[in-house]
Amino acid sequence: MSAPNSDYDPVEVTPLRADEVERMRDEALAAIAAADTVEAVKQARLHHAGDRSPLALANREIGALPPQARKEAGQRVGQARGAVSQAIAARSVAVEAAEEERMLAAERVDVTLPWDVEPVGSRHPLTTISEHVSDIFVAMGWAVAEGPEVEAEWLNFDALNLGPDHPARTMQDTFWVKPASAAMVLRTHTSPVQVRTMLTREPPIYIACPGRVFRTDELDATHSPVFHQVEGLAIDEGLSMAHLKGTLDHFAEALFGEGTTTRFRPSYFPFTEPSAEVDLLCHVCGNVPGVVETCRTCRGEGWIEWGGCGVVNPRVLVACGVDPERYSGFAFGMGLDRTITGRYEIVDLRDLFDGDIRFTQPFGVGL
Ligand code: PHE
Repeated sequence: MSAPNSDYDPVEVTPLRADEVERMRDEALAAIAAADTVEAVKQARLHHAGDRSPLALANREIGALPPQARKEAGQRVGQARGAVSQAIAARSVAVEAAEEERMLAAERVDVTLPWDVEPVGSRHPLTTISEHVSDIFVAMGWAVAEGPEVEAEWLNFDALNLGPDHPARTMQDTFWVKPASAAMVLRTHTSPVQVRTMLTREPPIYIACPGRVFRTDELDATHSPVFHQVEGLAIDEGLSMAHLKGTLDHFAEALFGEGTTTRFRPSYFPFTEPSAEVDLLCHVCGNVPGVVETCRTCRGEGWIEWGGCGVVNPRVLVACGVDPERYSGFAFGMGLDRTITGRYEIVDLRDLFDGDIRFTQPFGVGL
């Protein structure tokens, strides 16, 4: 910077020459135009509009001019500085807007993306089918009854017309609970729940008994030492085999859909007389001639085994304190595990018990 112009009057100060001011202004405007980030604009402001910028320094030279030249130089520098600061203001608005746009684009959240990426749990088909079966019977006005899994031998066998010497005791391979003198077993069916109900309640009785049961079967693709049953018992005046058939047909339709029906085949159970095996109409071929012959699901039978049933043996009614002269009833029982494997063509029963969530997942939360 030159010293105050006290003892001489220069006609001209180089930084204040019109071409020089113009050059400084153009240089500033070029730098501002080239600044494409907020930081670059800040630098351009510092270099071209700050206290030590060429135009600011030139401004300080004005005092060195003769008074008559000051006004013109002042205007020139003032205009140049004005143009520079306007350019900076405009540029920083533009750059800030661009930067914000870039940020918005980079941080964009797609609200249409699916949000349910958290794995959703599913229910085990056994739980679902047990509840579904209970619902079907509750809708008919029946009650759901439960009992202990470790059961008195008398309730599991004797009361059901399966005395100690009855040959049919071996039909159900039994886990005995130690000591033998306790006469306790792991229940081999849920029928003892029916016995308990008859012993404690007056007819009419209409109950469904879903539950876990145990037999000494080796675990393989079609057997398990632990499995699940639902049994039903109805005791009332005037009940017959016809009521049993109607009930099972309704049960089958409610569980598997319209058109599902059942058939009976003669059989034997100590606790029912007469007794029958109950089969379900094959859901794949419907026993339709021409289709049934090649059906792999029912192996050409047209029917799939479902469970056992019959009219309650009067000896059971007597053992449970029910008057056989006044009351009669029917009972049935089916395996829930086999119901599921048959329905969904699951070839290995063990899949039901492995606890692998990849198996349960396709069942979702309902059947
Ligand atoms: N309790 C029999 C079983 O587990 C099933 C059944 C129940 C059969 C009721 C007839 C009547 O094998």
